[in-house]
Amino acid sequence: MFIPEEKVSEILNTSDIVDIVSESVILKKSGRNFFGLCPFHSEKTPSFSVNPSKQIFHCFGCSAGGNVLTYVMKYHGLSFPEAVKMIARRYNIAIETRELDPEKRRQIQLKEKLFRLNNRVMQYYHNCLKSGSQSVEAREYLNQRGLSGDMVDEFKLGFSPDAWDSVVRQFKGFKTSKNAAVQSGLVLKRQQSDGYYDRFRNRIMFPIFDVNMQVAGFGGRVMDDAMPKYMNSPETPVYNKSRILYGLHAAKQHCRQQGILYIVEGYFDFLSLYQHGIKNTVATLGTALTPDHIRILKGYASKMVLVFDSDAAGISAAKRSIKLFGKEGVDTRVLVLPDGSDPDSYVVKYGQKAFKKLADGAKSVIPFLLKVSTDTHGLSVEGRIKILDDMKVHLSQIQDSALRSLHVKELAEILKIDEKAVLEKVRDQALNQSGKKGSLTGVEPVQEHPESDPREKQMISIMLNYPQILEDVRKTKVLDSFYSERLRRLGKKIANVTPGENAFITSVMASLDNDDDQSLIASLVIGDNFSEQNAHPAAQSIINRIIRVRKKNENILTNKIISAEKGSDSEWELLKLKQKEIQQLHEH
Ligand code: GTP
Ligand code: MN
Repeated sequence: MFIPEEKVSEILNTSDIVDIVSESVILKKSGRNFFGLCPFHSEKTPSFSVNPSKQIFHCFGCSAGGNVLTYVMKYHGLSFPEAVKMIARRYNIAIETRELDPEKRRQIQLKEKLFRLNNRVMQYYHNCLKSGSQSVEAREYLNQRGLSGDMVDEFKLGFSPDAWDSVVRQFKGFKTSKNAAVQSGLVLKRQQSDGYYDRFRNRIMFPIFDVNMQVAGFGGRVMDDAMPKYMNSPETPVYNKSRILYGLHAAKQHCRQQGILYIVEGYFDFLSLYQHGIKNTVATLGTALTPDHIRILKGYASKMVLVFDSDAAGISAAKRSIKLFGKEGVDTRVLVLPDGSDPDSYVVKYGQKAFKKLADGAKSVIPFLLKVSTDTHGLSVEGRIKILDDMKVHLSQIQDSALRSLHVKELAEILKIDEKAVLEKVRDQALNQSGKKGSLTGVEPVQEHPESDPREKQMISIMLNYPQILEDVRKTKVLDSFYSERLRRLGKKIANVTPGENAFITSVMASLDNDDDQSLIASLVIGDNFSEQNAHPAAQSIINRIIRVRKKNENILTNKIISAEKGSDSEWELLKLKQKEIQQLHEH
């Protein structure tokens, strides 16, 4: 173990899972639990639950589950020690780590080093911008684009000097290793000779923060018409483009408060909207939105408006978003700004109120696409056929059948075409797209658990929630009568944990070392159907029943063996074997 056991328990006992999960999922209280949309799979109705008294989470949809550490590991894609550290930092728990796995340790250290380097270089670029004769043009440029000094400071904008070696020299000053320097993406190795050179030269610099306010990477803009207009850091161990959204660290609280957020494309779009008081905004930096982006964002707001500067961009984003957002239960709208404005130029020219008014009128995805199509083709007979051809493609992508039929109905009315004909077109389209298997139902197969007797699960659930029953479990040796090896193994683990006060579940969870076991246990803790009063009698009757059924089945088996002895040899051998297997099970 990389981190001392005591520290892990201290963290589990000090942290609050509701606090931690709330940072990334909108939770609503309902009865004893909190519910929200699961960050680990696509869903529209909340089946992700957090239980504050037991300090665990469980998703009824995808059966992910575990304690606060499992959550942080899964959500942030961290290793165990990284997750421990993250929570420890939050609760001011000091950790001295005892190392074991040198490879993991190296990775963690590298990430920390890269964050530190980025932070220092950000400071350096910022200072370069704030003073000196080299950056006069840069300051003027920002000024002319209307960005206030406060914004420059808050978002730590900077300037990369017009030289090949400014960051190279900074790195020398910091005594940075070659490896870390190159991995940061801020310098590149020379092709022809030894040595390194700066990636960003003579550009306005935008540090890109992650949600935890650490500098993950940079973007840089030229101040004239040179190409490329923007340059960004490459992917690095700390910069993952499919997960980072520019501005989220500052916008997140505003998104939460308002329940709606704007998704724009560029640095300046974000900064201008923010400066004009529209702070519930994030920017994708010109990359397509990914499922990860959306899962992260839906933790901050359930309504999202995609803002674009042209029909073409809006249309292609709207098309992609049908599948992407449809699965996540997010209310998505598309806003295309008039006459070639982008969010930045629009808000600078017309102001905050005008922007908000336009945004309020933003259409949902399908109505938006329909409007584009009718504007293009008109409502002549031929036009209507073309519209139907356009729309069948979009409608066939909608997973939710109720929603799809609503849109089909609406389309039929607008085009004055029989609803059945429209439906047929959409069906054909869906069949074409998915080869032979129709995907219209959109139902994913539920994962089957082959665990045998449902009472075995009930038993474990009672053991977890009413540890006073453990005494009976030990005395009756009921676990030995379990058919499910896995539940027997877990049951024995639970029976070995000393029932303390409120930390019982926490201790049980901590004694499990794999994800699947944690998920299963979490689901059994949450799926508690008993009350203090009836748990004990219920448990006793379940115990009796499990033991009786097991005995009865074995008697049947024994009888069969006896009768088989008189019959064919092979059947007899088989049954003998079976009996031996069962005996061995009991010896554990
Ligand atoms: P301004 O001209 O500064 O207002 O930029 P913009 O944000 O209006 O530019 P545009 O709409 O062209 O691009 C949107 C975003 O895409 C930018 O903010 C960048 O993040 C990204 N982008 C634009 N051009 C480039 C480029 O040449 N290279 C890369 N890597 N990214 C770009
Ligand atoms: Mn722009």
